[in-house]
Amino acid sequence: MYFTDTHTHLFSNKFDEDRTEMVQRAIDAGVTKMFLPNVDVSTIKEMNELEAQFPENCFSMIGLHPCHVFENYKESLAIIETELEKRAYAGIGETGLDYYWDTTFKQQQQASLHIHAQWAKKYKRPIILHTRESFNDSFAIMKEHNNDDLTGVFHCFSGSIEEAEKVASLNGFYIGIGGVVTFKKSHLPEVIKNVPLELIVLETDSPYLAPTPNRGKRNESSYLTLIANKIAEIKEISLEEVANITNQNASKLYKSILK
Ligand code: NI
Repeated sequence: MYFTDTHTHLFSNKFDEDRTEMVQRAIDAGVTKMFLPNVDVSTIKEMNELEAQFPENCFSMIGLHPCHVFENYKESLAIIETELEKRAYAGIGETGLDYYWDTTFKQQQQASLHIHAQWAKKYKRPIILHTRESFNDSFAIMKEHNNDDLTGVFHCFSGSIEEAEKVASLNGFYIGIGGVVTFKKSHLPEVIKNVPLELIVLETDSPYLAPTPNRGKRNESSYLTLIANKIAEIKEISLEEVANITNQNASKLYKSILK
């Protein structure tokens, strides 16, 4: 049995002291496939170095996080486009819309998301969406671009059953479920009970959002098993079944990497 962490920022400076040991811990725990979403132009080098260190386990993705879209975002996107022309990446992201922290660059975030959607279609790679207080706008933009070449994941999904069903209505889209599902007051167990496991991929979003009992501490990919266990409990199925179905989903999403 193995697990796929579809969203983990293992190149974060929070892991500077023990990165190699931490990645090895995840592999030893059965989390053998880890997808790395880029943050901004300053993180590309570290991300690709980690991928080179663990070529069987870590896979780089490329994009500009919506919280890093500022006045000069076009310069960042130009650098990212050069990267895309240079080599293959496993996915496009993370991108998306974040209206929670700051709405100063709302228009620019939307323009950036449109460009990422075009790249996802051009390079036939999944788009990795961060949607904070922005589900309707993100969904509308995906609907506008959705065709056979556009697939993706609403990462850190925190919406309602209705919103999960909207994601399911798009061709080749999934919801990413992480540590929040283990939190005491989370509404996500109710959502998960009501949507098919075929819609779900697992993620940690390390170093953020560590699952219970590590809530508030630094998160790492080995904790993915805590999230998988919680989903098995909610769905009243075995851990193996959660691993198998979510791996199958991840394989459809990351078909350039997983067979
Ligand atoms: Ni992220």
